[in-house]
Order: sequence, then structure tokens, then C-alpha cells
Amino acid sequence: MRIINFGSLNIDHVYRVDRFVQPGETIPSLAYSRFCGGKGLNQSIALARAGAEVRHYGKIGTDGADLVEMLNRSGVDTSSVSVEDGPTGHAIIQVSGDGENSIIIEGGANRLMDDIDIETVFSELEEGDWLLLQNEVSAIDTLFGRALDSPCRLAFNPAPMTEAVNDLPLHRVDLLIVNESEGRALTGRSGAPDIVSALTQLCPKGRIVLTLGARGAICADGNRRIEQPGFPVDAVDTTAAGDTFVGYFLAASSSGKTADAALELACKAASICVTRPGAAASIPYLHEIEAG
Ligand code: RIB
Repeated sequence: MRIINFGSLNIDHVYRVDRFVQPGETIPSLAYSRFCGGKGLNQSIALARAGAEVRHYGKIGTDGADLVEMLNRSGVDTSSVSVEDGPTGHAIIQVSGDGENSIIIEGGANRLMDDIDIETVFSELEEGDWLLLQNEVSAIDTLFGRALDSPCRLAFNPAPMTEAVNDLPLHRVDLLIVNESEGRALTGRSGAPDIVSALTQLCPKGRIVLTLGARGAICADGNRRIEQPGFPVDAVDTTAAGDTFVGYFLAASSSGKTADAALELACKAASICVTRPGAAASIPYLHEIEAG
């Protein structure tokens, strides 16, 4: 059983601000940092730091070598990350005084995924392997179409949410992890219990997880509903909390842990992530969680 993550790699330009800039305004940044990020990269790093074996499929431009170095240092197999002419994907991130973020992404090399890349991935996937996808690379619809006749297990985190996600064959998904705004957009419902119920209709075969930020998460596992309250912390930067959750939950559940145990571990990992600045840099190692 292997985990292959076909996902984005971004350079994150992070600006600390008192509050998010409003339309027509210009505001000063209090501090600037450059971090490794991208939902794909963050989730691969969370998987590896949680103890899973993960291979990352993705593309950087000529300016993205440090992203691959960071993946390597965390134990991710980067043999399938390729370098394209042109820029790496990047994100412009505002982080406000209370740790909330506001993000613009520019796809760069993440938008150069093509049919050949997709065929290469599926030629390697065997029964029982996991394919993890987010929504920051091109050709997600082709990936889903190809997954329909693949024996792999499919994990999907539809972030960032777009209209096109509604047209994907979500019934194929074995593990769906969404936050509240993604859940609302996918189902048209509001309120966590209603969103979870509606998601189980969209993915009848799959395990569903709805993350609730500081309030924890809910998992629908067959007919069971498991609720995990959040672990209270002082948040400095919520960037990559969702990615940390996804990586930890998939690592734990694919290694045979119960949904209850996976949910608790993923919530703990995300609660540590938000106490640290940056995206990938803020993702804890398993031993840090076990020590706490
Ligand atoms: O989920 C956080 C990530 O979203 C950031 O690292 C940024 O690159 C964007 O992809």
C-alpha cells in the first residue's frame, strides 16, 4: 500500500497585517516571510511527518528547488517532481493579528499537468494504493475520470473549492475531507450535521470528514458519526492547518488506525500547526504530538 499525492507546490509570500486589506485600500505589511507551501506540498509533508510513505507527483518552475529540498528533508519521495520552464506556483498570503489568513494563488507550473503525467501516475497505482488529490493543479477532471476504472483508493480534499468540483464524479471518492465553506458549497446546506448528511449522499461509499477549525471535526464512517472537539491553543497563523489535518488523517487511517483515533490525532496535529508561523514549516512531527 502506497500513498501518491498528485498535488501543487507553491512559494508562499506571507505578509503580516493588522487586518486584511479592503477594496480600494493600500496598507503596510508588518513583516514579510517566504515559506514553502501549496496544499499538495503541505499535505505530503504532513503525511511524511506522520510516518507515512508518500510519493509526491508535481511540477515546479526553475525557481522552486527549495520546495523539493523541503520535501526531501521531511522524508517525501520526490522522484516524480519535475522541473518546467517558467515560474513555480506561488501564493500571496495575508495573516492578520488573530492568525486568520487570506490567500491568492497563482498556478504557475501547477497548471501544466497533462494527460501524460496522469497516465504515468495511474500506470503505477495498484489495488489498495491511495491517490490523494486537492484542487490546485490542472486536469483534476481528467484525473477523476481516469480514477473511475482504477483499483486505487481515492482521497480528495476539494480545496480551494470551485464550481467545477460539483461536476466531478464524487461518488468514486473513498475519503472526502472538507471544511465548512467547502461543505456548504458542495451541498447547499448549512450547519455541520446537515452538511455531513448531504455529503454522505454525494459519496455513499466513502468516509467523510468535515473540519470545523478550532471547534474540531466530525467524521461520518458508515452510519456512525464521530465528533472530535478541537484542542484549545493560541493561534498565530492558521495557514496549512487543514493540510496538516488531511495528511495526518490519511496517514493514520491508512495505517489501520480507527476513524476515532485518526480524527483525534489529526485534530491534535492541526492544533499544533496553528501555533507556528508559515505553511509547511508549521507542520509537526509525530513525535512532537506524542510528547505533548
Ligand atoms: O493551505 C495553505 C496553502 O494554500 C498555502 O501554503 C498556499 O500555498 C495555498 O496553496
